[in-house]
Amino acid sequence: MKIFCKACFFLLVLCFVVPFYNLSLPHLFFISLVSLFPFFVNMWLVPGGFAWRNPTLNPTKIPGPVGWPFLGILPKMGPHAHRKLASLASSMGATRLMAFSLGSTRVVITSHPEIAKEILCGSAFSDRPIKKSASLLMFERAIGFAPSGKYWRHLRRIAANHMFSPKGVLSLECLRQRVCDQMMEKMSKEMSVKGVVELRGILQKSSLRNVIGSVFGSGLALDIEEELGFMVKEGYELISEFYWGDYFPIRVLDFTGVKRRCHKLTLKVKRLVGQIIEKRRSEDKDNGRNDYLSVLLSLPEEDELTHADMVAVLWEMIFRGTDTVAILLEWIMARMVLHQDIQAKAQDEIEELVGQHRPVQDSDIPNLGYVRAIVKEVLRLHPPGPLLSWARLSTHDVQLGKFFVPAGTTAMVNMWAITHDPSIWKNPWDFKPERFIEEDFPIMGSDLRLAPFGSGRRVCPGKSLGLATVNLWLARLLQQYKWLPSTNVDLSECLKLSLELKRPLKCLAVVR
Ligand code: HEM
Repeated sequence: MKIFCKACFFLLVLCFVVPFYNLSLPHLFFISLVSLFPFFVNMWLVPGGFAWRNPTLNPTKIPGPVGWPFLGILPKMGPHAHRKLASLASSMGATRLMAFSLGSTRVVITSHPEIAKEILCGSAFSDRPIKKSASLLMFERAIGFAPSGKYWRHLRRIAANHMFSPKGVLSLECLRQRVCDQMMEKMSKEMSVKGVVELRGILQKSSLRNVIGSVFGSGLALDIEEELGFMVKEGYELISEFYWGDYFPIRVLDFTGVKRRCHKLTLKVKRLVGQIIEKRRSEDKDNGRNDYLSVLLSLPEEDELTHADMVAVLWEMIFRGTDTVAILLEWIMARMVLHQDIQAKAQDEIEELVGQHRPVQDSDIPNLGYVRAIVKEVLRLHPPGPLLSWARLSTHDVQLGKFFVPAGTTAMVNMWAITHDPSIWKNPWDFKPERFIEEDFPIMGSDLRLAPFGSGRRVCPGKSLGLATVNLWLARLLQQYKWLPSTNVDLSECLKLSLELKRPLKCLAVVR
């Protein structure tokens, strides 16, 4: 209102000045710029920038960059956003909490474990801001983006009691082993045909097959599996795509075609997943299956999900379960190829505790401390979600440390900054799995110095399943092959929905 009054006053002044002095257009432009300066000062030059322009929103003066007028720091959010945000926070002395603007979206970010715990585990931030693409792709009706009410709790309970329960994870070992056999067969073939293995495609396909197996069981036709793979890839691109409407409360034209592509993909998902559900409904119920679809179909009447919600829930599981595991394994293998001494040490451990006469099993993993330490160290140096993938949203006003954060603020945790902080981690840039042998560090969310799966009520429900897969597959890859670089290993990174290696890793797999 104050700004509106000033603008009216400014127009009134112009109405008198222009005819009186007979000004030319460049003069007028200059005068406008000078006169508008106070508005800019008011609207933009405040800690945190444009979205924090109303002083009642930031009474405790959370420090932060002013950024660009209207855009805030949107131009800085690219493939290295986690690094840029970390260096901004440390240069402004705002590691505990920093305010900034993404268009008109108000955001706070922490690079400190204490405040991270308050954000992730407190009740104020149990919702997520939802991007247009995520909403169009039905994720609002699945665990990841459903508001934290009765429906979301219901979905989490079903998932925790079945697919992600310790018994559920254990019962999927056969599937993990079978997919791993097929994966290694493909690697051998590629090695003998091309003389080099490009891991990304093989890891993606194997991870997809693994998650499809746990969601739909075995026996899905190959062409359906392939189509699901294309859908996950397209969904991943769409969610990572920039969309103006996510940052400004206006209806924007669909210049980039994101909305159109989302609608098209959603129709495909509904058709394909819908068909799989209908086919299963027509089958005998006592078929002995233990996959997630069977669980959903045999829920008691009071817990049943509608057909549309079931499609959304199954689709989300496949979508979330595929990339995270494949991306993490590619990072691990890049480190194995780069650090031959560490690779050899892990192989010695496997040799000593399992040998070569049988493949590593889930039950061996608790004894393979060094292999598990490697996984932890890669999660520390290259967390797949450096900003914890999807942010949180404050549902009411809240105090974070000494700062006041108003309702409706997006909150992020810069896990990458925390795991690279020299005041928390000794020599944080070194790849040193030994640090996790010296100290048995929990990584499931209880200690925020390393929480790659998040923490609190919205912590990743798939963490045990994801880790079981990564630990087993890594141990088996190291048991079977010696991994060597084919060219220089390039550790450049690129942040999309997850933090990926910028260039796919190519290496040599030599049978041991
Ligand atoms: C290495 C593997 C994985 C990593 C690093 C990872 C990481 C994460 C992170 C950081 C979050 C956000 C947590 C928060 O806000 O506190 C999350 C949420 C989630 N993850 Fe994972 N994840 C992995 C594997 C999986 C798998 C295998 C599945 C399913 C099959 C899965 C399903 C989900 C779901 C549904 C959510 C949303 C939870 C909610 O909002 O209530 N994740 N994950």
